[in-house]
Amino acid sequence: MAQFQLSGFAIIVGAAGGIGKETAFTFAEASAKGILFADIDHEAAAKAAETSKGLASCPTYRALSVKADVVDVASVQAMVDLAAREFGRIDYCVNAAGVDVAEYLPFQDTDPDDYDRVLGINTKSIFLVCRAVGKVMQAQEPTQANLGRHGIRDLGRGCIVNIASAMSLCAVPHKVPYVTSKHAVTGITRSFAMDFKAAGIRCNQVGPTWVRTPMFEEECKRVPQTPQILEQMCAVKRPIEPDEVASACLYLCSPSAVYINGTLLTMDSGILVGPM
Ligand SMILES: NC(=O)c1ccc[n+]([C@@H]2O[C@H](COP(=O)([O-])OP(=O)(O)OC[C@H]3O[C@@H](n4cnc5c(N)ncnc54)[C@H](O)[C@@H]3O)[C@@H](O)[C@H]2O)c1
Repeated sequence: MAQFQLSGFAIIVGAAGGIGKETAFTFAEASAKGILFADIDHEAAAKAAETSKGLASCPTYRALSVKADVVDVASVQAMVDLAAREFGRIDYCVNAAGVDVAEYLPFQDTDPDDYDRVLGINTKSIFLVCRAVGKVMQAQEPTQANLGRHGIRDLGRGCIVNIASAMSLCAVPHKVPYVTSKHAVTGITRSFAMDFKAAGIRCNQVGPTWVRTPMFEEECKRVPQTPQILEQMCAVKRPIEPDEVASACLYLCSPSAVYINGTLLTMDSGILVGPM
């Protein structure tokens, strides 16, 4: 199982809750050497960082936390500088900060200010974080992993995973800013993968449908028929658990995935294959 162990340092953005927190815990369990928990909610991020110390399997594991506002260029740069200074390098970065639309509205009634807000937090943030992290990764030495009977494997200089959505591939009614923001994450992921592949830095995205987090609870309040939709459309008839998304992020950052670059790993229980 050496292929699913980590051996470096991570920044998890949006680590105070939901998918980001679970991904950080999973990385700690998979032997990450250190994790920076970054979120606009610093109190919750610091608490999660503390909890991760009890889960970590690397004996020298370090957990740090920082308040970061992903739409603010200076705040993103300060977050990346902190990780680079404290850890000496950044091997993995997961972009899991995000928001939903303020209100579900038809296209013609969509508020331009909410469009800007959602595109800022879900999309521009990923551009800013990838830009700052990419520079650090580019300047660091490549690493290798000893995979036992599979030998030594070159890992390159680092990898990034962006949490996109199944809505990176299709639209749903009345969520223009969210759908647009998630399609755009694909553009950023592919552009980054293209520009950084010569440096041995990978960038992929995970595209889940509904994940059991506070964002899903909110969706159920706004669209009360969501559980029935899941029942009718999903092979497993439930939302995705956050640990299942975290496992996908772990795979994409692991030595097993060094050949995977610029792709979208869809997690939809077959919904996009077509109706049952
Ligand atoms: N939950 C779902 O059903 C679902 C499905 C597909 C994709 N996603 C995506 O997964 C990602 C994580 O969602 P989640 O369900 O874990 O949501 P969540 O609300 O549980 O977590 C999102 C985190 O982002 C942080 N955040 C928000 N604005 C920020 C900012 N400006 N700067 C820094 N941090 C900020 C929040 O404080 C929070 O901790 C989002 O991009 C979301 O679009 C979620």
